[in-house]
Amino acid sequence: MYLSQKDEKVLKGEDGPVLAKAMRLMVTLGELGGAEKLVPIKRSQVAGVSYKTSGDPTLELLEGLVKDKVVAKTKATLNPAGMDLERWMEMGVSPAFAEKQLRICKTYERLGVLPSCTCTPYLSGNKPCFREIVGFSESSAISYVNSVLGARTNRHGGLDALSAALVGRVPLMGYLLDENRRGTLLVKAGFKPESESDYAALGYYVGKSTKTDDVPVYSGLRKGSHDELKLLAAASAASGSIALFHMVGLTPEAKTEAEAFGGKRPSSSLEVTMKEIQSVYRELSSDEKPDLIAIGCPHCSLSEVGRIAKMLAGKRISNRKKFWVFTSPGVFAEAEKRGYIGMIQSSGADVFKHTCMVVAPIEEIGFHSIYTNSAKAAFYTPRMTKSKCQAGLHSLKECVREGASD
Ligand code: F3S
Repeated sequence: MYLSQKDEKVLKGEDGPVLAKAMRLMVTLGELGGAEKLVPIKRSQVAGVSYKTSGDPTLELLEGLVKDKVVAKTKATLNPAGMDLERWMEMGVSPAFAEKQLRICKTYERLGVLPSCTCTPYLSGNKPCFREIVGFSESSAISYVNSVLGARTNRHGGLDALSAALVGRVPLMGYLLDENRRGTLLVKAGFKPESESDYAALGYYVGKSTKTDDVPVYSGLRKGSHDELKLLAAASAASGSIALFHMVGLTPEAKTEAEAFGGKRPSSSLEVTMKEIQSVYRELSSDEKPDLIAIGCPHCSLSEVGRIAKMLAGKRISNRKKFWVFTSPGVFAEAEKRGYIGMIQSSGADVFKHTCMVVAPIEEIGFHSIYTNSAKAAFYTPRMTKSKCQAGLHSLKECVREGASD
């Protein structure tokens, strides 16, 4: 693989051992993926933040890196942590967990990664442009920026996204190249989604039914807001690691079906009707009534927070349940200015930043069953809790009906 003189120097350790290791990781990934060279990036999203999922080994590794005084060369933002960094006590998180979590976030900050702690960096200050090459980890963000924004990123894990941020380079391969962005499978939607959770169910079904490197092209869906596509992207990334999809007439590389397939005919197709969507709701269901209604996977946009505020106006959350909304600090600040946070809190619900129902220690906090409008959260919640906290997929309207009364 071609390396510039500057890359060679970093690789030889002239800028210190940490950058040499980070560059070695980029070069190794490039060689494995058949890249011709490394290319510069200006943005990164770094996952592997929650103490629940990363634990002491990550903390020790990060604290070791800091000693070399290296900082990210890109605009780098952090994925959600295991708690609201300011209001963790109100969530019921233990001081022992909080101490470790705060140390992890502080260490990332010293490495030049902003502790924004959101999986929707593209909604609050770290939004790539069309065709911009970036180094993102976090499967839902990878799928969203590739598909809905038409930016270009490969599937990075937390450590290689951090390495890419430190050296400001990624290997030119995979989804960064035109030829790997063309559709491989036609998905015919033979039903009309009636709620945002129907989009999530569609993404979940498609992810389960395809191969990891498939690029699904959805046809037959005439509308779909960015919020709905966000839920779909997260769901197909969770059930099938889908990193890129196109939606004819809606996403930027699919003005027509022919464009989405790069002028070729699709080699296979999949029909999704209401029957398949209902099978997803049956699979992602819970036998128990929820003790937590959790909305915001991926983190809510301003319009979603506003919608929830209006739906909860004049209602009261049952005192046997919690109703939590998760969003980014940037969206929270804007929602607060518009009065949405106050409206939500006056119903007895709450809005937390920096975290979500999947990466927070919800089991230790004492929850046993959740309702959510996110297929990703319904899929991961039982898998990320030792006693398998149950999770059911429902529309936002049903979640509000379950959690709040007039
Ligand atoms: Fe984001 Fe947590 Fe869902 S990180 S995509 S809200 S699992």
